[in-house]
Amino acid sequence: MASKKNLVPTILFIFGGSGDLTNRKLVPALYNLYLENYLPEKFVIIGVGRTTFASDDEYRGKLLEGVKQFSRTKKEIDEQWGDFSKNITYHELDLTADETYSHITSWINDKAKEWNVKPIVIFYLAVAPQLAPAIATKLSEQKLCIDSESTRMVFEKPFGHDLQSARELNQILGKMFKEDQIYRIDHYLGKETVQNILAFRFANTLFEPVWNCNYIDHVQITAAEAVGVEDRGGYYEQAGALRDMVQNHILQLLCMIAMEAPTSFDANEIRNKKVDVLNAIRKINPEDVHANTVRGQYSSGWIKGKEVVGYRQEKNVNPQSSVETFVAAKFYIDNWRWQNVPFYIRTGKYMHEKTTLITVHFKEAPRYAFPGEAVETWRPNRLTFSIQPEANIKMRFQAKRPGPNMILNPVDMVFNQKEEYNGYEPEAYETLLEDVIEGNPTLFMRADQVEAAWKVITPIMEAWANRQPVDFPNYSPDSWGPEDAEALIARDGHNWVSLTSKNKE
Ligand code: BG6
Repeated sequence: MASKKNLVPTILFIFGGSGDLTNRKLVPALYNLYLENYLPEKFVIIGVGRTTFASDDEYRGKLLEGVKQFSRTKKEIDEQWGDFSKNITYHELDLTADETYSHITSWINDKAKEWNVKPIVIFYLAVAPQLAPAIATKLSEQKLCIDSESTRMVFEKPFGHDLQSARELNQILGKMFKEDQIYRIDHYLGKETVQNILAFRFANTLFEPVWNCNYIDHVQITAAEAVGVEDRGGYYEQAGALRDMVQNHILQLLCMIAMEAPTSFDANEIRNKKVDVLNAIRKINPEDVHANTVRGQYSSGWIKGKEVVGYRQEKNVNPQSSVETFVAAKFYIDNWRWQNVPFYIRTGKYMHEKTTLITVHFKEAPRYAFPGEAVETWRPNRLTFSIQPEANIKMRFQAKRPGPNMILNPVDMVFNQKEEYNGYEPEAYETLLEDVIEGNPTLFMRADQVEAAWKVITPIMEAWANRQPVDFPNYSPDSWGPEDAEALIARDGHNWVSLTSKNKE
């Protein structure tokens, strides 16, 4: 099968090849890329892990189960899986041992000889974050990443635990590798509608003139999850919603909305514009943290007829834990474009519905000539980017209701991706893996972005650490979080937008 893009033959090592991420996300994404002809004509995927498999076939069988369960395309599994999976092998190896890397070196040399070309070599670290520095050091010592043009490393989040540890990690990596070789994943950046924000803003002339504090009243970003912490209690105890979702995904969404127009689509140009936003976010003073943020933790309760335990009763969670599973906050961006426009963000586990939504609320018109009864249901213009579960963009405006009288009603203009493109909705990991193979780091986090994002949340982390929450648990599952989160936005005369399936506002 010839690649659409004539890509250089590629060797992809997945460290953590027997893990959950490989099974749920990476291999289903790679398989979809294969089906759609986006992989290089010559490629191999080499899983490396500690689990024992009797043979490559047994490993492939496990991956196939993952594809069947988690891939967005199911129909061609039987026909093409065989052709795809013959490029996959597995090796049970210890990633802390030197000889592992000697094997890796000889496999790369063998392939280069067989293909008669210098391949692109990617090391995907789908491993526990604490292993990453040691693995990176081995790769460097064994000179496996010496050619920065043809070798790349992919790091999953979390990237550091706070500003200090992120800096240290960046410094370690910076001494061994070129920044261009380092791909720090924030999978939200690969989501279709997230990328569409760039297209919407910078491929249309219509919106830029009103995209500022003169016309925009406020912005809301919601990333609500319907699940709890599941089996990740141990990890989550070290993280909490602020580190897990706000430091990365939510701040990246905010950057997409708030960034200035790039002068080109060059990866660094786009990342420069985003880092400018992070640097312009107003530092919350320690004494103001409690007025501008809300944290929450879920109690036990019921979700769709099923009883669920509270966060403190989850596996590997301290029964007195003060870790937050919900965050709401208000940020300001101190620059000419956004002065005094509040950006409200919220995210939480066990919310009423899974939804990731950005709403841009425009200011009221200065005056209405319509008679009083015409504007009873009047609402300001609002632009909605729905990132998931539906991918769509909606513009709310006023229109006349049919009938003899002039009555105005808010209506939506809608771009629905599924309808427009016959249900075609690639997964974030497909886009991101393809970008790594092609060597395009635009949608990946640069070292300074990661650090700037940590700086934004540092005052919140510190203030929360100094004042333990006394009201935890403070929200029930299947809700929209603690009441204080409603109060945070209500104080400014607004309310959170939730486009639930039952209540399409
Ligand atoms: C991950 C977080 O980065 O994002 C998880 O660690 C969270 O806690 C997940 O569940 C949410 O991703 P998505 O794509 O399901 O919104």
